[in-house]
Amino acid sequence: MDLGLAGRRALVTGGSKGIGLAVAAELLAEGARVAICSRNAAELSAAAQSLDGEVFHQVADVTDAASVQSFVDSAAAALGGVDILVNNAGRAHPGDFETLSDEDWRADLDVKLFSQIRCFRAALPHLRASDSPRVVNVNAVYARQPDPAFFATTVVRAACLNLNKALAQEFGADGILVNSVNIGFVDTPQWANIHARRAPDTDRGEFLDSLAAAEVPLGRFGHVDEVSGLVAFLAGARASYITGAVIDVAGGMGKYV
Ligand SMILES: NC(=O)c1ccc[n+]([C@@H]2O[C@H](COP(=O)([O-])OP(=O)(O)OC[C@H]3O[C@@H](n4cnc5c(N)ncnc54)[C@H](OP(=O)(O)O)[C@@H]3O)[C@@H](O)[C@H]2O)c1
Repeated sequence: MDLGLAGRRALVTGGSKGIGLAVAAELLAEGARVAICSRNAAELSAAAQSLDGEVFHQVADVTDAASVQSFVDSAAAALGGVDILVNNAGRAHPGDFETLSDEDWRADLDVKLFSQIRCFRAALPHLRASDSPRVVNVNAVYARQPDPAFFATTVVRAACLNLNKALAQEFGADGILVNSVNIGFVDTPQWANIHARRAPDTDRGEFLDSLAAAEVPLGRFGHVDEVSGLVAFLAGARASYITGAVIDVAGGMGKYV
């Protein structure tokens, strides 16, 4: 299937590792022109060099509006415009209600919800100039299935899904398609953090296997390239009548209909 991504110009936030890096690789393999950002300059540069193809990269923090604006403008200039925005940068924030301070809540809203608002706002003029603009927001199954162990993620990702739907409705008339990919458990560097916080004395593999056995019908963590294919599809020409959708990549995780 030709996804129609050749020559399309794509921005991927949080492209230095994990899901974002896999999305950048997938889009490049489909012939897109790609720009990535993240905060750690050394990791970002190594990621850009590891990719098979030319990639624009610039350090940017999605919690900082000026930093986002600078990345979007520089990337648009380097790529000659923007057709695709993948809002992927984010983090896990384990913790139940009583462990979360106001500052934790603010920080989580900032990196998850406000980042998507900021990046969309900065990219909007470029998306409006595109003949086939696409936005893919990377969110979490916990948005629809509350989990007290990831309390802030649950609440903040629910807001992200509302943003996803509201943007799809408001900007449908501009032809801007906005969709969400909801992740369950995908093995990426962010799980090192969670492992360290929740079970530092157990083996990482055993920790992930025990979580998957308890929560995931397919009984395993997902791989990043099991996410990137869907993101590429949603960014491509074959998804031209899909907007406001939320699609789980979660091995069956998510107890809802
Ligand atoms: N993996 C999962 O099981 C899972 C589950 C649910 C949702 N998700 C979501 O999927 C997305 C990708 O997660 P992942 O598992 O691939 O995580 P990851 O391996 O930790 O990668 C996160 C990426 O985002 C960047 N990033 C983090 N904070 C940033 C900031 N403030 N500004 C700019 N870049 C930032 C990181 O680079 P720097 O740290 O250098 O900035 C890195 O490139 C996240 O939004 C995450 O919440 C993942």
